[in-house]
Amino acid sequence: MSNQKNEFTQQSLLEHVNSVKIADGNPRARAIVARIVADLFKAIDELDVSPDEFWAAADWLGRLGASGQIGLITAGLGFDRLLDIRMDEADAKAGIAAGTPRAIEGPLYVPGAPLSKGEAVLDDDSDTRGTGKVLIMEGRVLDHAGQPVANAIMDAWHANKDGGYSHFFPGLKEFELRRKIETDAQGNYRFRTTLPPGYAIPPNSPTSELFSLLGRHGHRPAHIHFHIVKEGHRTLTTQINIPGDTYIDDDFAFATRDGLVLKIEHDVSPAGYESLGVDAPFERAKFDFVMQLALTERDTDPRTRIARAVGA
Ligand code: DHB
Ligand code: FE
Repeated sequence: MSNQKNEFTQQSLLEHVNSVKIADGNPRARAIVARIVADLFKAIDELDVSPDEFWAAADWLGRLGASGQIGLITAGLGFDRLLDIRMDEADAKAGIAAGTPRAIEGPLYVPGAPLSKGEAVLDDDSDTRGTGKVLIMEGRVLDHAGQPVANAIMDAWHANKDGGYSHFFPGLKEFELRRKIETDAQGNYRFRTTLPPGYAIPPNSPTSELFSLLGRHGHRPAHIHFHIVKEGHRTLTTQINIPGDTYIDDDFAFATRDGLVLKIEHDVSPAGYESLGVDAPFERAKFDFVMQLALTERDTDPRTRIARAVGA
């Protein structure tokens, strides 16, 4: 044979992609990418993936990125919950008390919501107001030992009556249905909003395209997101669920958790709640959030997931 240096088998090609004739680079990045490329080479071979199938997938990934929907796919394919399960497992192994169950952040958080002390009206500037039942949620933020956490900053956000989130859905105001509340000296918080309905992934999108190919629905049961920050405590990212939703046990994002379904009291008298703009009986849910003790600086990092990951 004269010169076979650029003729590869599947195996020698993989070795060249991953490890032959390359500089050190970043060893962690190299290890992860090498493993993923090896797994994909194997999947392509074993499933006999055709060039048309491969390029259709590449086109889909390009459209997914351009549509800003990567965070929908990671949730729908279970990766977001997987990361939570792994953090729960690490806590259990290290003997760290659990606190309020963590639930996925989801892709729809926006920083910069208006801040108020003790209480807030989430549906103040919303077209949702007056379209459904009023919910008042109240309780305390507690630490791992059951002591109140004063001056914790709680971000709360949820969808409007059409299942749309402000910033991502046309026609909503800048911070509609998004507020920050600072707990008072006793760790109390309370807020009023309009009970949200469920959420569904956008139709005619790269996400819905994949989910229909997979025979999966794209519904999430009604929920409200929380991100709670206080120095010395582990930043808590969670959600609560509204009971009675059709999808409560069939969430496409696998984010619902048994300990997070609200117990709702009906027809509560508005006396004492006037500052929240109620003058008729409403739905009330009491819920205390329990933060974990921060063991590292990283634990108490106030940033949300992408900012934390990329250092923004
Ligand atoms: C998705 C939407 C949500 O409202 C959420 O909380 C989690 C995930 C999604 O579209 O993937
Ligand atoms: Fe959500």
